[in-house]
Amino acid sequence: MTLWGGRFTRPMSRALWELSESFSFDHALYAHDILGSRAHVRGLARAGLLTHDEARELDRVLVIIEGEFAAGTFERREQDEDVHMAIERRATELAGPIGERLHTARSRNDQVATTLRLFTRDALCAISDEVLDLVDALVELGDRDDNAYLPGYTHLQRAQPVLLAHHLNAHAWALLRDVDRFVDARERLNVSPLGAGALAGTSLPIDPAATASWLGFREPFPNSMDAVSDRDFVAETLSDLALLGVHLSRMGEELVLWTSAEFAFASLGDDFTTGSSMLPHKKNSDVAELARGKSGRMVGNLMGLLTVLKGLPLTYNRDLQEDKEPLFDSLTQASLVVTALAGAYRSLTFNSAVAELAANDELLGAIDVAERLVSDGVPFRRAHELVGRAVGEAVAGGIPLRDVVAATTPLAAYADVFDAGYTLASRRSPGAAGPAALEAQRVRLDAERHRARSRVTVVTPSLPTL
Ligand code: ARG
Repeated sequence: MTLWGGRFTRPMSRALWELSESFSFDHALYAHDILGSRAHVRGLARAGLLTHDEARELDRVLVIIEGEFAAGTFERREQDEDVHMAIERRATELAGPIGERLHTARSRNDQVATTLRLFTRDALCAISDEVLDLVDALVELGDRDDNAYLPGYTHLQRAQPVLLAHHLNAHAWALLRDVDRFVDARERLNVSPLGAGALAGTSLPIDPAATASWLGFREPFPNSMDAVSDRDFVAETLSDLALLGVHLSRMGEELVLWTSAEFAFASLGDDFTTGSSMLPHKKNSDVAELARGKSGRMVGNLMGLLTVLKGLPLTYNRDLQEDKEPLFDSLTQASLVVTALAGAYRSLTFNSAVAELAANDELLGAIDVAERLVSDGVPFRRAHELVGRAVGEAVAGGIPLRDVVAATTPLAAYADVFDAGYTLASRRSPGAAGPAALEAQRVRLDAERHRARSRVTVVTPSLPTL
């Protein structure tokens, strides 16, 4: 028998049970559900709806149940529809009739919303920490050889040389924005739905502001109907994770290219590569391919939830139970990818000889000839045309560009741009890819890493003693 069986004369069909049970996945919420219940018990005691002794007893059994879950000894019973019902059923088993008072002035609708917010609040903190470690791994790799450089690409065509550290920092900045979004999402979700009841509040004298503050929420809900139907925080979290997934996917694709024989810019450690079941020589960058591939389901999870939410009438609808699996999945996949990529970057050897040879392609100096002309007063469009013609001549004739430039009247004075290191060193505008600009970028990046880290703080609830 379920805990809500009073008005029913026939038990639920097996098919509906299989369709609607959620314990099989929402058991992951046990700790946050119990935390919410422990705050609720204190609220009931304060409202005079539980005696002091009853509240202490309920709190005691809730702590026991949490221990059972943590130890893996919690026994699910046939009738446990979801984690909330399972905990209440067990509380009643342990505390006897007092357990039947636990759900006073509460619905699963405000309960599940509270539990899921508490869970997501912690999860956003955990993934932020992991992303910050990946940022560290990128910075460490750039620091390992801070003179190393490679071609920077547009349209995947060689464009201009860039320092390796500058290139890796580009990913780091994107990841830091992800962390910023996670922290913003966490601040926005930090509102307590507890006390909204099924949808309209209760006649009983509860104080949602008190339970909110004990649970570390910024404030209680302003509207009971919004409180139980709002899953914006799940959609926002999934959106932020999808965007992280897109960033990870781009990093993965780049590693696939870099570790191919065609590029050969980098190799991953044996501990971060896999072999082939048939071809003995293969060393595959599966870690990078999975970073790319996992983003598909992270984007899909966002789309799935938005589709569930679209068109739902106020307030709680059982459709909302479909919020959990995408959320859990995106968090799990993001964590797996971020952790593995951090390891992969730490295991990576950058083959600077190969990358630098590619970056020393003299055509990449064409822009420098044009910019020198500009410095001497030539309009840029004119300079572009002149240098373009020289490039055309060099390519068509199979002649080094340097020789064509040296032999062409308005350009001849600028042939020194083809000297080793000239092009990279001259990228010195703020935020540019050369060594002088990188120093300033490092200061900003360190400050941003520090700021991000200081924003990622675990919210610690403080339950009053009973
Ligand atoms: N397992 C349900 C969920 O995740 C709990 C809420 C059920 N509420 C209800 N009125 N049936 O949404």
